[in-house]
Amino acid sequence: MPAQRDRVLIFDTTLRDGEQSPGCSMAQPEKLRVARALADLGVDVIEAGFPAASRGDWESVNAVAREVQGPIICGLARCNRDDITRVQTAIAPAANKRIHVFLATSAIHREFKLNMAREEIIRTAVEGVKFARELCEDVEFSPEDASRTELDFLTEVVEAVIAAGATTVNIPDTVGYTVPDEFAELFRYLRKNVRGIDKIRLSVHCHDDLGMAVANSLTAVVAGARQIECTINGIGERAGNCSLEEVVMALKTRDAFFNLDTGINTTRLYPTSRMLANIVGTPIPRNKAIVGENAFAHESGIHQHGMLKHHSTYEIMRPQDVGLSRSSLVLGKHSGRHALRDRIKELGFELDDVEFARVFEEFKALADKKKELYDGDIEALVLQAEHSESGPWSLLNLRTSFESAKTAEATVRLKHADGREIEMRSTGDGPVDAALKAIEHATGVDVVLRKFEVRSVSAGEDAQGEALVYVEYNQRTYRGSSVSTNIVESATQAFLEVINRIELASATLARTGTQRVAQAVV
Ligand code: KIV
Ligand code: ZN
Repeated sequence: MPAQRDRVLIFDTTLRDGEQSPGCSMAQPEKLRVARALADLGVDVIEAGFPAASRGDWESVNAVAREVQGPIICGLARCNRDDITRVQTAIAPAANKRIHVFLATSAIHREFKLNMAREEIIRTAVEGVKFARELCEDVEFSPEDASRTELDFLTEVVEAVIAAGATTVNIPDTVGYTVPDEFAELFRYLRKNVRGIDKIRLSVHCHDDLGMAVANSLTAVVAGARQIECTINGIGERAGNCSLEEVVMALKTRDAFFNLDTGINTTRLYPTSRMLANIVGTPIPRNKAIVGENAFAHESGIHQHGMLKHHSTYEIMRPQDVGLSRSSLVLGKHSGRHALRDRIKELGFELDDVEFARVFEEFKALADKKKELYDGDIEALVLQAEHSESGPWSLLNLRTSFESAKTAEATVRLKHADGREIEMRSTGDGPVDAALKAIEHATGVDVVLRKFEVRSVSAGEDAQGEALVYVEYNQRTYRGSSVSTNIVESATQAFLEVINRIELASATLARTGTQRVAQAVV
């Protein structure tokens, strides 16, 4: 008789733990796009944010709860009535909802962060869980920094929150400190020693500080965890969280070992990963497992020879299984609507007619400038067209002049949504610097440029360049990205996106009067 199979829930925290890491913040329309993609991917739970962090965070969680169907919609709260009530009001419209409360339990957090004794921690955790249960049937509790908490105390806390009504207990390796054998032992210990543990779902939440988040999550599953908390591309605090695509493909590829199911449609992994990378402006490293550009590329002669004989000589997963259907087919200006539509579909993107018409127009314009369009070009066009957040400023014209050994000059003509048109000229260290300075003078927004990167999105001498710009303004990091065959233009557009984000953020702040609470609270 075949062994009975169990299901592991995939709890995605891209919009909470992922989004709170520096440089990964998202605007509400972007969060909604990510949440819809996560629902299509088949995740079981979407942790949509931390509603008490700011009014904007509450609004985003509420928008996800209103508009995204399928997964359980969850919000994070500290163990206090105000935070918990904010989660409850934010997630209220969702069909399936969860309140996730957390409190640190390790000695180091108790002494230096919370200044609370053991008894006080237990009392606060129990009160938080009980109150959350009054508002919601599905309550998760996380003892933050569990992996560094004394075993006897962790046992006591977990037992107490189960008695108080927690339905899921999550064991976080908050600082990415544990190692697989030790972590598995911790799960086995809890399962053996905590009264009532069989009544609840055990969950695992790992950070990647020592590069072991995926391994630690998998070992916890072997030891009895039935929910994995993870993020797309592994984004998250510091070195990030457990990467969803890696942990899911490990379970699928080594199915005979794990004997566990997830509800993930793995063919959505690649497009979801690309979409998130585009939104947060963090390119995926070429050699990243599962979704990196080289993940399925075979360069050496011996490997290519083996692959030609049989693909499984060097390939343990099929690219199609993760939604990667790279093609050597090149499109050009004579390619029609059908060819483009097919390619977009094969790349895993779904566009409605209006979006497709916009992409087709841009495809034609690009094909006039660039002879051959590769998958990378098509992907960039689709992702760029999905950039829903358009700000008040747009670029009407850009003129630059540059001679070696001379100062470069740039003139920009900008239009504001309120009707103003401004032309500004500036000089600088090269045409990009001059154009960025001209935009700063024209808009009156003075920023500190932290990072500027250009990378090519496809092959060939006329390859398109994607510019990524990171700036600091009012102690916050903002980023922008843009793609063009001309890198001065893509840099200018990326910088203008940053200025637009700053204007939108300032407008939201003026409207709601709230700043995010310090990220250090989580
Ligand atoms: O890393 C952590 O401990 C967390 C908890 C809030 C679950 O993110
Ligand atoms: Zn975390």
